[in-house]
Amino acid sequence: MSAPNVIRIGLCGLGTVGQGVWKHIDRARHELESRLGVRLELAVAAVRDTSKQRTVRIPAAKLTDDPIAVASDPSIDIVCELIGGTDVARDVTLTALALGKIVVSANKALICKHGAEIFEMARRHGGHFLFEASVAGGIPIIKALREGLVANRFPLIYGILNGTCNYILTQMEDLDVPYATVLGDAKRLGYAEADESLDVHGWDTAHKAAVLTYLAHGVWVPTDRMVVEGIDRLTPADFQHAATFGYGIKLLAIISRDFAKNELSVRVHPTLLPESHVVAKVSGVFNAVSIKGDVVGTTLYIGRGAGQDATSSAVISDIVDAVSILKNDRRAFITARKEPAAAVSSTPCRLAPPERIHGRYYIRLTVKDRPGVLARVATVMADQRVSIASVIQNRAERPDAASLVLTTHDSNERAIQATLTRLARLASVLEPPLLLRIGDFPE
Ligand code: NAP
Ligand code: HSE
Repeated sequence: MSAPNVIRIGLCGLGTVGQGVWKHIDRARHELESRLGVRLELAVAAVRDTSKQRTVRIPAAKLTDDPIAVASDPSIDIVCELIGGTDVARDVTLTALALGKIVVSANKALICKHGAEIFEMARRHGGHFLFEASVAGGIPIIKALREGLVANRFPLIYGILNGTCNYILTQMEDLDVPYATVLGDAKRLGYAEADESLDVHGWDTAHKAAVLTYLAHGVWVPTDRMVVEGIDRLTPADFQHAATFGYGIKLLAIISRDFAKNELSVRVHPTLLPESHVVAKVSGVFNAVSIKGDVVGTTLYIGRGAGQDATSSAVISDIVDAVSILKNDRRAFITARKEPAAAVSSTPCRLAPPERIHGRYYIRLTVKDRPGVLARVATVMADQRVSIASVIQNRAERPDAASLVLTTHDSNERAIQATLTRLARLASVLEPPLLLRIGDFPE
């Protein structure tokens, strides 16, 4: 069969990302087409509301409100699913893959929930599912893990995977403003999910951690088997306390594997990082991913993690790979061969029990400002064998209350959770305790 000379692309979704893909393919068309040796035709775009004003100009004849028609149209070679969510997006993806098409997706929630089914559908029908834009925006982290680092096993992957949260945390730290004030800016800038609670409660980071875990270790870890905590309870005062100890605060995903015990842990939580740590200095919408490979050592990737241009860059790189697959050249062979390989080649592993997840902790308590309160708190911690490293007491915002910030020596998740449960029950503790982990990552 001769290679095609026109590739027809269907976009399902023409919001922040879809319009960016359209805009940048149009802008770079000459360069892309001459490198690929094909003509790229943006054939059709499916949206919810065909009458909506958009920043890119698209002929009305190319708009439809039927994404399944795009997915099943035999004249469309590449289907880009840029709708989001896990319902219509799943239908679009499975419809196209069942017809042996190539689907390009930025949808980490979909991959996390239905990845096993999607990869199986692609395998069974000879389709391809490409998802570079699903993790870390413009950073080519999927290619790094799947191709550049293929010789490695991965004892530790950690990093900032959510641009919205990093933008919010940076603004809170720099401008001393509450998180709700900054969230509106992140939404206007096109960083946040349609349901922004996915960002601020940590779920979007957890979806991305699930994708990285699958690529690195070949297992799907459901988000309800991870520790997932968001940034919504942080206050500007936490940044001041952290700075007193010499730390900044970042929302991190941490994927660690103990190969000797064959145990894996996947966690998402706000983490205190030493101010001098390179990841602590990554600000605004930028993401950072540190990958330790047993052959290469530690590699670090930094770049814009959200927003129209960064995400379009990643989607277009998948479109270019898709064209290579359609042209059946050597790059296509490499891409296709590696798709499910991680899942097949890794040894299955168990999730680490909480007592084997170690670390140091920061606990903020709002307590009655009375004699004996600190002693009661210390007794609870001693009972759980959690050793206090430092204590700071400040006036709290509410009257007759104090804010007590404690850091601990090395402890573990089981002991610390038991401690928090008991502290929350003390009559002198006025609000649920806030727990932050202290990150001890060698650079
Ligand atoms: P968005 O701005 O909300 O755009 C969603 C698009 O899907 C809109 O064009 C919408 O149509 C269309 N749509 C929604 N429901 C539809 C339906 N039932 N039928 C047809 N079209 C429908 O979202 P986005 O920010 O571009 O995100 C798209 C995907 O990329 C998501 O999976 C997201 O997680 C992922 N992603 C986003 C970013 C980012 O920075 N924004 C970065 C990485 C990955 P209307 O325009 O008519 O409403
Ligand atoms: N809402 C996501 C973020 C988009 O802020 O990182 C990129 O995946």
